[in-house]
Amino acid sequence: MAMLDGQVALITGAAGDLGNEMAVHLAREGASLVLWDIKPEADAREHVERVKSVGAYTQSTRYQQIDVRDRAAVDAAIAGIPRLDVVCSNAGIVNAAPFLNVTQASWQEHLDINLTGCFNVCQSAARNMVEHRTPGRIILTSSWVADIPWLEIAPYSVSKAGVNMLTRAMARELAAYGIRVNAVAPGIVRAGLAGRQLVEEPQYAARVAKVIPLGEPGTPVEIAQAVVYLCSPATSYMTGTILLLDGGCSLFQFDS
Ligand SMILES: NC(=O)c1ccc[n+]([C@@H]2O[C@H](COP(=O)([O-])OP(=O)(O)OC[C@H]3O[C@@H](n4cnc5c(N)ncnc54)[C@H](O)[C@@H]3O)[C@@H](O)[C@H]2O)c1
Repeated sequence: MAMLDGQVALITGAAGDLGNEMAVHLAREGASLVLWDIKPEADAREHVERVKSVGAYTQSTRYQQIDVRDRAAVDAAIAGIPRLDVVCSNAGIVNAAPFLNVTQASWQEHLDINLTGCFNVCQSAARNMVEHRTPGRIILTSSWVADIPWLEIAPYSVSKAGVNMLTRAMARELAAYGIRVNAVAPGIVRAGLAGRQLVEEPQYAARVAKVIPLGEPGTPVEIAQAVVYLCSPATSYMTGTILLLDGGCSLFQFDS
């Protein structure tokens, strides 16, 4: 029997690189997947097919176009899921700009998607878990820059600092219901948001080349494996943890 046989996992940002890898890994562990993303279903088809191709419960894999900012849509969709065991609150955006050029609209968009989106999804999911007495696991995607003022992404860093405190605040209050809440904090991954920055922003790529003590950007698989770990009985005593997977980035390397 696989570890997550008979369990249901919801992943937001599932049509992106990290979320899709998380979905594939949880499907391999036997979970039925509910995949959410803001992208229309046609644009997410490849990602959905990838998850279906590995899971035991391919028929039950569901895709729903949901904007995590839309609380009514989040609540309605969660009400339609009879039992929810695992939630990966992973959807996120980054738009780089020097602090002096950050617009109020960009600041607000980062907070709305990266932080309030997590609040919407996690609170709604937690209510479902409490109602059904499910010993659920909630895993948020933070970032190493929640604690490090990496250049030109102030709104993003602030949103992830909020994600860390949201993780710990929920862990504290939901422990009484047997629900564990943890976060993964990836470093620089050669995929998704950072993958695009590495290609499109030469000044970013030049900085990245100097700051990873383990030498290379991470991979979505390394992050997804950590998510599986946080779902597993091996972490039954872990809650409120921010699990850093950053190749040593936050140890910080000054130019020598
Ligand atoms: N790639 C990295 O190096 C890295 C490092 C640290 C943290 N992260 C975090 O990992 C998570 C996943 O990012 P990724 O790198 O896979 O990028 P990605 O762009 O490949 O995936 C993000 C997904 O979120 C979706 N999304 C955006 N806004 C949404 C909304 N309002 N509602 C629902 N879905 C929405 C996007 O459509 C996209 O599919 C993010 O929270 C990001 O901050 C990524």
